[in-house]
Amino acid sequence: MLYPRDIRLAQVALGGPSDDDEGVRPQVTVVAGEQAYQRPAGTEVAAEAGRRRAFAVISHPDAGKSTLTEALALHASAITQAGAVHGKAGRRGVTSDWMAMEKDRGISITSAALRFDYDGMVLNLLDTPGHADFSEDTYRVLEAVDCAIMLLDSAKGLEPQTLKLFDVCRNRHIPVITFVNKWDRPGREPLELLDEIEQRIGLRPTPLNWPVGIAGDFHGLIDRNTGEFTRFTRTPGGADRAIEEQLTAEEAAAREGEVYTTAREELDLLTEIGADVDMESFLAGESSPVLFGAALPNFGVRRLLESLVALAPAPAPRADVKDEPRPVDAPFSGLVFKVQANMDRNHRDRVAFVRVCSGRFERGMVLTHAATGRPFATKYAQSMFGADRETLDVAYPGDVIGLVNANALRPGDTLYEELSVEFPPIPSFAPEHFAVVRSKDASKHKQFRKGIDQLATEGVVQVLSSDLRGDQAPVLAAVGPLQFDVVLNRLEHEFGARAELDHLGYTIARRTDAEGAAGLAGVRGSEVLTRRLDGALLALFTDKWRLAAIQRDHADILLETLVAGTD
Ligand code: G4P
Repeated sequence: MLYPRDIRLAQVALGGPSDDDEGVRPQVTVVAGEQAYQRPAGTEVAAEAGRRRAFAVISHPDAGKSTLTEALALHASAITQAGAVHGKAGRRGVTSDWMAMEKDRGISITSAALRFDYDGMVLNLLDTPGHADFSEDTYRVLEAVDCAIMLLDSAKGLEPQTLKLFDVCRNRHIPVITFVNKWDRPGREPLELLDEIEQRIGLRPTPLNWPVGIAGDFHGLIDRNTGEFTRFTRTPGGADRAIEEQLTAEEAAAREGEVYTTAREELDLLTEIGADVDMESFLAGESSPVLFGAALPNFGVRRLLESLVALAPAPAPRADVKDEPRPVDAPFSGLVFKVQANMDRNHRDRVAFVRVCSGRFERGMVLTHAATGRPFATKYAQSMFGADRETLDVAYPGDVIGLVNANALRPGDTLYEELSVEFPPIPSFAPEHFAVVRSKDASKHKQFRKGIDQLATEGVVQVLSSDLRGDQAPVLAAVGPLQFDVVLNRLEHEFGARAELDHLGYTIARRTDAEGAAGLAGVRGSEVLTRRLDGALLALFTDKWRLAAIQRDHADILLETLVAGTD
């Protein structure tokens, strides 16, 4: 167990050890900064944290994220038939209210957190929306994981959304495992794909296995570690495990002939250039273990699971706002990374997803909400599995808890027990789309306001206002226009307030201060508004030329770039 340098094990033993009496187990006092806490010696928390892996799949839409999620869960035997999680056409579906909207557009808006047991480990897969318009949501989810699987379509390689999400991983030093998907159909050369990864994002690819047969004529995979060849045979419909056959190198050479020889030659080349898995550079985000396979027919998915368990880091101490790491076996602390209302028509409630960062969570425990200092009861803690919910009694670092009807919680909030802590806020993205929103029906103004407040709190969209514009017509600021559609849809269906938008011609936002706001008053092509959630002053500009001209004429005005990620 790694302890940060400034945490000292100060004192041991408050009572003698006893097998049958929990109350007098040896205690350890741990001093963290200016605070101290006690925990039983030999606590199970560190061991349980060591069994957890919290990860996300990042990919461009259509690369196969939903399919891979299902395949992973299938292999981990969490579900019996692929398709139970995401509800693709003709399969069982989740039932959120905006599901219809998702279906219409073929996009995934809702994020589910899946948890499954595999080989003595507990895997927590945090789902991320694939569409670029919901990048901010994805960013928040990535705050809560310790590893990411970068999923590539073998025919397309690195695509724009993959690149953006990879940048987030790089900024947050999240180790990345690469899975090259859809190898069962025509695609690019494996060496060419590796080269693209290295050249375009500077990540050194280190293959764990190697495909035999070109994409589209896939015979199987050679494991670089053991030299064994796994031959695959597709099962009808793909909705079950593929048939796998293990062959030795000699057997494979005899059976597969030339394609096998070609693959071996490529492997020799990789060995020559030293493309071997290296834990240190992987954990530092400099190299990426690469696996080939096909999620739909379940080729190579088991190997991916095994690699994830072997390579992905377990939860580690998380740095707080003062940059002091909180050990995983400190009293409970958790980070709210997502708030989602109305996930299930039968429940009609609001769920805050909390990543456990330290300690043992027990349902019913009363926590403190760091932002307000208020107590927070956790009677209704749940775990989520697609649309299914289960009451969750205990959770450990790396797990995700769903707290139901957690109306006070916002993404980025910290909850803790006993020893106070606050994690750094999750930065907001720079919005690029702006629109005034108005209630269509004056008699529904109350519902309209309530809806706007709630959607802002959830982080569905940023809400800006100013004295000039007044309360009736706030300005919505979004990273992508689909966020507006979600707002209108939810205002109408959840709050009974039909609304309309009036798009504004701004495309850029910069952070400013009160002096900046005064300096920009009346300047053409700009406007200063206050972000409701945190009171930040945002200066909006029609375009980059207008911004450049204003910066030239008013060099003294503070115009700070907001979080990149969309730039
Ligand atoms: P996404 O969540 O990343 O957006 O992708 P999704 O899993 O929905 O997959 C996109 C399409 O790619 C789907 O086809 C899916 O069946 C297909 N696909 C995913 N993995 C593989 C693979 O390994 N091999 C092949 N050949 N296809 C794969 P679709 O026709 O758009 O949807 P559907 O009607 O089949 O669900």
